Amino acid sequence: MTEPAVRAELVRRALVRRQLERRVWVPITPSPKQQRFISLDVKECLIGGATRSGKTDALLAAALRDVRYPGYTAVIFRSTIAETRLPTGLQELAHRWLDDTDAVWDGQARTWRFPSGAKLVFAYLKERDSHLMYKGSEYQFIGFDELTHFGRVQYQYLLSRLNRPRDSEIPLRARATTNPDGPGFDWVLEYFAATHLEQESWSGPDRCYLHASLADNPTLDVQGYSTTLDLLDVITRRRLRDGEWVRDASALVYGFDPRLNVCAGLPELSRSDGWRHVLGIDYGYHDATALVMLAYSRYQPGIYAVDCHEESGLTPSDVATLVDDWSLRYSPESIVADVGGLGKGYATESTQRYGHAIHAAEKRDKLGNIRLLNGDLQHHRLWVLDGPALEPLRRELAELPWKDEQHLAEHPGFPNHCTDALLYGYREAYHWASTAKPAEDQMSVEEIRLDRLDRDAARRQAAEWEDY
Ligand SMILES: Nc1ncnc2c1ncn2[C@@H]1O[C@H](COP(=O)(O)OP(=O)(O)O)[C@@H](O)[C@H]1O
Ligand SMILES: [Mg+2]
Repeated sequence: MTEPAVRAELVRRALVRRQLERRVWVPITPSPKQQRFISLDVKECLIGGATRSGKTDALLAAALRDVRYPGYTAVIFRSTIAETRLPTGLQELAHRWLDDTDAVWDGQARTWRFPSGAKLVFAYLKERDSHLMYKGSEYQFIGFDELTHFGRVQYQYLLSRLNRPRDSEIPLRARATTNPDGPGFDWVLEYFAATHLEQESWSGPDRCYLHASLADNPTLDVQGYSTTLDLLDVITRRRLRDGEWVRDASALVYGFDPRLNVCAGLPELSRSDGWRHVLGIDYGYHDATALVMLAYSRYQPGIYAVDCHEESGLTPSDVATLVDDWSLRYSPESIVADVGGLGKGYATESTQRYGHAIHAAEKRDKLGNIRLLNGDLQHHRLWVLDGPALEPLRRELAELPWKDEQHLAEHPGFPNHCTDALLYGYREAYHWASTAKPAEDQMSVEEIRLDRLDRDAARRQAAEWEDY
């Protein structure tokens, strides 16, 4: 080959190499843990653990894995736009990785477009209902950075957007990262069965948790960084440095403890006492409607959540029918509901069709009411029955976090329909919850009247059982 021909060949090869290099989307060498996260072909995978253990890098690399497929669309969510734009955040990282490649950034659509036609979108959920905006979308990869900043409902709704054309072979994957902290700590822990003791845990064949520690980031000065984290309080340190899923109960609204506040059934009452019922309702259409039935007896300490129904998309007529069924079953002495705004139409339907007397729930001083309720939870005076019907209520009680450290409002990303229905009913029934039965000769006229009503109710209940 002549000298110019050799030079031309070298230039051509350099150009090809450069072109190839411009298609290297992931410029880091992933650690074995990151590689496992990227290559696992399981539908859902969460990488959780210590901060700066390389989780966010692993997420971006996972999203970029399949951009060679022409129709591939990936989306990565954060819970606010501010977080996606942090200097250490995902968008910044994506610019560092992709700016010098053939991928093109469309700032308006917050989308990277790849030569194959594939897309990577950065999205954020601002409001509690923002996930509903993605109703018509379809993705083959859905990523969540800091999953504990999302609600379970948001996560599961968005998961339903994983889809592909019938003959496509693009894998469908949901991938998430998180530190073991944040408002969604409890649901994420339960959903992925993540514990610090297990390196890797599976909850079903399609759902996997990988545990990341500081040692999984090949570039980190582990010793130096650990020393910095030593300054944190114990819980934060164990979470961020060691990646442990340690609970911080003070972040939750309700002091509900499933070991202490759940019981298998109602206790026996003396023959002369009957159960009284109060129904609490939180109306909603997109947000679910929730009904919670409470039972208490005037002289039995304690109040019991005995039934619950939670469903979205119910019309006023559906709810009225449900309330009527429950009224026949439980004969509640009172029905209390959130009758403001949308609730008004629901309550009116119930009253006009079935003659239900629906009281407006007392909505002032919600915090005071939560405190009272927590006091009863703590002193084992409020019980939720076991069994599947009450599951949505138990879940909300166990998972609803405060919005922030001030503890003045509930976190808007988490459902509170069942707990609100509980609060409405509880407030109505509370003053009966723990009175000791006075001796008969010391009863006031009113108490004697109520006592008689109780005895009648108990007699009727006993007679029903005999008929049965
Ligand atoms: N395999 C890797 N090679 C080079 N740098 C890495 C690698 N993994 C992580 N890093 C860098 O380490 C730092 C912390 O990683 P990051 O993914 O943000 O951690 P986390 O999300 O767990 O807090 C970032 O600067 C990131 O770019
Ligand atoms: Mg991160």
